[in-house]
Amino acid sequence: MSKIFISCALPYANGPCHLGHIRSTYLPADIYARYNRMVGNDVLLVCATDEHGTPIAVKADKENKKPIEISKRYHDMIVKDVESMNISLDNFTRTTDEKHYEIAKNFFKDLYDNGFIYREDIQQLYCPNCNKFLPDRYVEGLCPVCGSEARGDHCEKCGRALDPTELDEPHCITCGTTPVIKDTFQYAFKLSDFEDDLKDYIQNNENLPANVKNYASNWLNDGLNDWILTRDMDWGIPVPLEEAKGKVLYVWIEAFLGYISSASQWSEQSGKKWEEYWDDFVVHFIGKDIIYHHSIFWPGLLKAYGCKLPDMIYAGEFLSLEGEKMSTSKNWVIWIADFVKDYDPDLLRYYLTINAPLNKDSDFSWDDFQRRNNDELADVIGNFLHRTFTFTRKYFDSKIPEYANPSAEDEEFKKAIEELPAIAGEYISKFEFREGLLEIFKVAKKGNKYFNDQEPWKAVKEDMQKAANCLYLSNQLAKTLAYTLKPYLPTKADAIAKIMNIDDLSEWKDASVFLPSGYEINKAKPLFKKIDDEVIEAEKAKLQENLKESSEDENMSDLISIDDFDEVVIKIGQVLEAEKIEKSDKLLKLQVDIGEEKPRQIVAGLAKFYSPEELVDRKVCVVANLQPAKLFGTLSQGMILATGGSGALLSPDENGKVGERIQ
Ligand code: 2FM
Ligand code: ZN
Repeated sequence: MSKIFISCALPYANGPCHLGHIRSTYLPADIYARYNRMVGNDVLLVCATDEHGTPIAVKADKENKKPIEISKRYHDMIVKDVESMNISLDNFTRTTDEKHYEIAKNFFKDLYDNGFIYREDIQQLYCPNCNKFLPDRYVEGLCPVCGSEARGDHCEKCGRALDPTELDEPHCITCGTTPVIKDTFQYAFKLSDFEDDLKDYIQNNENLPANVKNYASNWLNDGLNDWILTRDMDWGIPVPLEEAKGKVLYVWIEAFLGYISSASQWSEQSGKKWEEYWDDFVVHFIGKDIIYHHSIFWPGLLKAYGCKLPDMIYAGEFLSLEGEKMSTSKNWVIWIADFVKDYDPDLLRYYLTINAPLNKDSDFSWDDFQRRNNDELADVIGNFLHRTFTFTRKYFDSKIPEYANPSAEDEEFKKAIEELPAIAGEYISKFEFREGLLEIFKVAKKGNKYFNDQEPWKAVKEDMQKAANCLYLSNQLAKTLAYTLKPYLPTKADAIAKIMNIDDLSEWKDASVFLPSGYEINKAKPLFKKIDDEVIEAEKAKLQENLKESSEDENMSDLISIDDFDEVVIKIGQVLEAEKIEKSDKLLKLQVDIGEEKPRQIVAGLAKFYSPEELVDRKVCVVANLQPAKLFGTLSQGMILATGGSGALLSPDENGKVGERIQ
């Protein structure tokens, strides 16, 4: 028997769960956990909500609420979502829990005391308008590696973890201002010291799947920088050092530790030691967007702490919706809470598993969901079970008949039933969940064909033993299906077990033990129903409607009132002097007359489009009430209006007088 530590990536508590969360982490982790429990392994399955960090702080700012109010709201929703999908977690905590604070602070302190974390004077992006540092998601811009739009901490396109200062064309997400660079200090982890250890870990760990190995090896080949572990912000776990007032731990270092604090909370409740599970076999189920964090940062931290590294990191690829990338902001998404209102969660568990292997991108489409439900669950599995149960009731008084003088077809079918648990189990243990389910489906299909070929409705009149053999074996398959489907479709499996008078499905080895002749079963109701076309059409229409509503909302929120506009003071100015700023190929330093006593010094990103001489004497439009800021160490007291792409200047016509306000 092994002990297995299984975790699902911690969801940010800034929104409820949607199909993507379930597909990439919770469902595969649950299938794996349920199967391993059934084969007698001792499993600990943990998760928590990830409550700190900028995603929640940003949402709180937008809603004018405290971050804890936001995270509590979504924590409660996520708990319900996960429960409604029957994810069999042993513990689910939250990162604002006291125990988590203690574990995270101790971990940081340990690494600091042992010299793996050091203080570093650095420069960070600062918004001169909001008067605050812009950590992580407070800033957006272009990824320096692939050029796509990226958040300050992460590029979704190429998967790279970023430092906000690396972004090209950064802007503050609160007010849009281009941030300035300001001195501060933070605490960094000596990640670069662990480059060789990590190379060894990634290359020589046979468990790690190809997508994790490939991504990690590419990043390792580029070389590793040390990793800043703290932030200047209020929302988070305070850095446990006297000199670090006002600084908090970066959300990622403590999110990993959420695995540990959830496990350790479980230990307190169960009296069992989570460390024994960790020391035996650790599996992290994550989405592919966080491979970098789990294959580089986390093992690096664990190595420094002197702890065993995870044995397996299983990264689920992306799920799209109706062929398009899911987007919560555009409402192009199906929320779990909405789904389970109308459908049995097992239908979704089936679809998400059978549709594509976890290590390949997959798509949810309502038509395909209907097809798989109707043609596979209802017509194959459901039909086989229902025919077996009703026929047994009608012709054999609800009792499993005798098996005697089997034909070659009987024996072949019997063999397929007996072999199924081992084959499906082997796939699950290798993380090939789809293949396991396909195998179950294949045997159910074989069951239907066998039932048709044996024609028991005729045989009861002509050859009773033939009918008896058919129903004997069909009931055995029904039982085997209940056991093998249990990790995948737990409530449907229980429903089959109930019809078959089986109290529990806890032991996989019982899956191939045949029920004796004379064993009585109960009356059955159909277990799977077809979904009508109208229902699917309505779902598709609802998706489009949500999308429309969200773009209407967006348009609404893009509108500003006349008072908002009035706050911006734009004046006509005239450039008196212009010169290049050393070391910058974008910026020019201008002296601009805007009708005040002294000219304004303005730093403008126009160097790529104009030589300094071309600008002297030109009339321009100037934002006159912008907070002063320093760009490349040069004070800027306003902004010249021009387009970003071509640098086209907005100029007043000849009537415009210097100093006149535009309104
Ligand atoms: O990317 C995310 O959604 C993070 N909240 C995942 C954290 S996983 C871990 F480290 F716990
Ligand atoms: Zn700002």
